[in-house]
Amino acid sequence: MDTLRIRGGRPLVGSIPIAGAKNSVLALLPATLLAETSCTIENVPAIRDVKVLVDLLRRLGAEVAMEGTTLRVDTARVVNRPMIDSGVRSLRASAYLMGALLGRFGEAVVGLPGGCNLGSRPIDQHLKGFESLGATISQRAGAIHLKAARLRGTRIYLDVVSVGATINIMLAAVLAEGVTVIENAATEPEIVDVATFLNGMGARIQGAGTDVIRIRGRSPLNACRHAIIPDRMEAGTYMIAAAATGGEVRVDHVIPLHLEPVSAKLREMGVFVTEGDESVTVKGTDPLLPVDIKTQPYPGFPTDLQSPFTALLTQAKGTSLIIENIYEERLKHVLELNRMGARIRTDGRMALIEGGTPLYGMRVRAMDPRAGAALVVAGLIAEGETAITDIHQIDRSYERIDQKLRQLGADVWRE
Ligand code: EPU
Repeated sequence: MDTLRIRGGRPLVGSIPIAGAKNSVLALLPATLLAETSCTIENVPAIRDVKVLVDLLRRLGAEVAMEGTTLRVDTARVVNRPMIDSGVRSLRASAYLMGALLGRFGEAVVGLPGGCNLGSRPIDQHLKGFESLGATISQRAGAIHLKAARLRGTRIYLDVVSVGATINIMLAAVLAEGVTVIENAATEPEIVDVATFLNGMGARIQGAGTDVIRIRGRSPLNACRHAIIPDRMEAGTYMIAAAATGGEVRVDHVIPLHLEPVSAKLREMGVFVTEGDESVTVKGTDPLLPVDIKTQPYPGFPTDLQSPFTALLTQAKGTSLIIENIYEERLKHVLELNRMGARIRTDGRMALIEGGTPLYGMRVRAMDPRAGAALVVAGLIAEGETAITDIHQIDRSYERIDQKLRQLGADVWRE
């Protein structure tokens, strides 16, 4: 098992290109199943979760060819079969196979999706949506069985603002008869990206990016070519790392508006953040001011960046408060940060960070991709050497993190 080793204490300096968004591509790949033809997706990130999902598509009979960051998926010969193995269970996004296979074949058997170690992560809102569209649902032997003689458009109100449920219902609804309206939909940029992709295939989706999405069913869908939006979580992580190390980093190929929640919080800490057309530059400062953070659905502060931001807040002069509103279990990195010298107390969804403590390198474990990112930020500022184990977790979401950090002057290597 690989370990990421970091000798801390060097400011990150330079510019770094940001890859395509993980949470877009993980929905776009299942979305290709909706057209019996080939789709080309550009700006695909070289991350582990993409490889797992590509394997799942191949198992369904899709032909997938990768050239650089461009992926061509031909789904003409796809056969509907139960998807229940360990690949399915290791990935949250395999839930999208439900919406896509149900949409195309009127039937799907998909193992209960797993993914990050973030607690129970229910899919009740996805299932509520499929049921409203006319599917019958049962759960047997750890798999969800979905069946519909025909899917019919309807109004669906989500009880929880959910990225996954919004996307999954869109996937099932694009080929349904009539109009589907999703109310209280999530508004994340990745949802807009998926809608843009589907509309490029001929679907008729309006309102993506607002909390009411209208989908007028239409069949068949056609081939299309699409470039994925930049990954705001990867960009945000490098911005946070730049601030934490007192460096100066320009993240390139980004949409600055998508980074506004993290830019605003960095500015509140006294960090210099300047926006270009497709770049954001972050310049560290001393002292760093403490701030409070409440994670929220977009455009609020993203839960995915809460973990690396916690590591940054250990260096602020004063006490910061974090309230994690999306996943209570997403404060596990705190244990490892405290072992490195941080002073953080947690109570349920809250973490109180007493900043200004030095961190010391040691052996720590990445429990999930973003907890891993928190440890990377901590390792970059810690005295001595940090060894992060289970880095396959980081590789699930971050492309070549060791190489990219070295490009910015960090002393990082994989062992
Ligand atoms: N929820 C329900 N019922 C549902 C669905 C969600 O109660 O049917 C709850 C969840 O338990 C959670 C909240 O609603 O408390 C929001 O969950 P959401 O469905 O929005 O999350 P997701 O679709 O499972 C995606 C990303 C996550 C990211 C969240 C929140 C993918 C593949 N994953 O998950 O990304 O944290 O949205 O923005 O798109 C990551 O990138 O590391 C990651 C975990």
